[in-house]
Amino acid sequence: MTDDPPGGFLTLGDLEAAAAAKAPPDVWEFVQGGAGEETTLRGNRDAFHRQTLRPRVLTGVDRVDLRTTILGSPVAAPFFVAPTAYQGLLCADGELATARASSAAGLLSVYSTLSTRSLEEIAAAAPERPRWFQLYLQPDVDVARRLVERAERAGYRALVLTVDMPLLANRDRQLRSGVAVDGPAPIGNGPDVHSPPRALPPDGGRFTLRVDTGATWDVLDRLREWTRLPLVVKGVLTGEDARQAVDHGAKAVIVSNHGGRQLDGAPATLEALPEVVAAVGRDAEVYLDSGVRRGSDVLMALALGARAVGLGRPVLWALAAGGEAGVARLLSLLAVDVATVMALTGRTTVAAIDRSLLGTPRW
Ligand SMILES: Cc1cc2nc3c(=O)[nH]c(=O)nc-3n(C[C@H](O)[C@H](O)[C@H](O)COP(=O)(O)O)c2cc1C
Repeated sequence: MTDDPPGGFLTLGDLEAAAAAKAPPDVWEFVQGGAGEETTLRGNRDAFHRQTLRPRVLTGVDRVDLRTTILGSPVAAPFFVAPTAYQGLLCADGELATARASSAAGLLSVYSTLSTRSLEEIAAAAPERPRWFQLYLQPDVDVARRLVERAERAGYRALVLTVDMPLLANRDRQLRSGVAVDGPAPIGNGPDVHSPPRALPPDGGRFTLRVDTGATWDVLDRLREWTRLPLVVKGVLTGEDARQAVDHGAKAVIVSNHGGRQLDGAPATLEALPEVVAAVGRDAEVYLDSGVRRGSDVLMALALGARAVGLGRPVLWALAAGGEAGVARLLSLLAVDVATVMALTGRTTVAAIDRSLLGTPRW
C-alpha cells in the first residue's frame, strides 16, 4: 500500500470533498443519493455511531495483523471493494484503476454487471488477486448465462447475485438531477445487459436497468447449474432470507441495503447483521456493507460476526479525487485506521475481534 498521499488526502472526508468538487453535479447526485427521504442512508451511519467498543489494555499491541481469508482466499485486510456501476463516470480508467489499486493492496474487489469496462478488461488489468463478478439477473436467460460463463472463463472466483434490486427504487435526488448515465457511460459488458433510455412512470426513468423482476429463490439452483463458482447473495437483511440463500447453495451472504439506495425504511445493516449471523453464521460466511467509513465500523461489524465489510461510495470518491492513486490512498487510509482501532482495543489479530469487543449501544 502506498505511503505517498496523492494530493495530501489525509481522511476519507478529504477524498469526499475533493470528489464533490470534481465530479459533474448530476453524477455526484447519482453517487451520493439514496432512496426516498434517505432515512436508511442516514440510519447506516447512525447505527455505527450508536454502537460503542469495550477496549482492553496492556495486551501488547506493537504488531497488528490485518490479514484474513474470504471464501478461502488470503486477503491483506477484512474489507473489500463493493460492486458499483459506471465507475468510468468518475475517472477515465474507471474499473481498471480500481482493479489495479485493490490488487496492489492485496484486497478482494467485486465488479458490477454495469461496469463501464468489460469484465475481461478488468481481469486483465489485475490478474493475480481474488476478484468477484456481480450479476444483475438479466431477464433474457441467454444473456445472463453468457455473462456468468464469461466471468468464470476470465478467472473471477465467485459470483455475487444482487437480490435487492428487482426494480430501481425511487431515488429523489437522482430523479431530480436526471443523471443521464445511459448516455455518457458505455456498458463494458455489452449492449445486451442494459436497456436503452426510456421514460418510466412516474416520469423519471432516464436511468433504467434490466433485471428479472419475476425471479424467485430457485434462480440460485439455475445459477449453480451454469457455473461451479461459489455463489454469494448480496442484499439480504433478514435471517429468513439468509437461510433461503444458504439452503439454495449460497456460500456467503452480504448484509446490505445497497447503501440506502433501494428500500427506504430498511434497517441499518449493523442492526440487521446479528439475525443473519444467528441464522446462517455456522454454514456460510457473512459480510456487510452500507455506511462503512472508519476502522471502528469495520471492528463493530466483525465483532457482530461479519467476516469482512465492503466499501461502495468511498471508492467512487477516491476514483474522482485521484484515480488509481486515489483508490490506493483510500485503501491504505482505511487499513491504517483499522490497525489503529485494533491496537486501541487490544486486538492484534482479526480472529481476536469477537463479541466481547462490543459495549452497550447508546440509545
Ligand atoms: C453509485 C453506486 C452504484 C452502485 N452500483 C451497484 C451495482 O451495480 N451492483 C450492486 O450490487 N451494487 C451496487 N451499488 C451498491 C454497493 O455495492 C454497496 O452495496 C453500497 O454502495 C454500500 O454502501 P456505501 O456506499 O455506503 O459504502 C452501488 C452503489 C453506488 C453508490
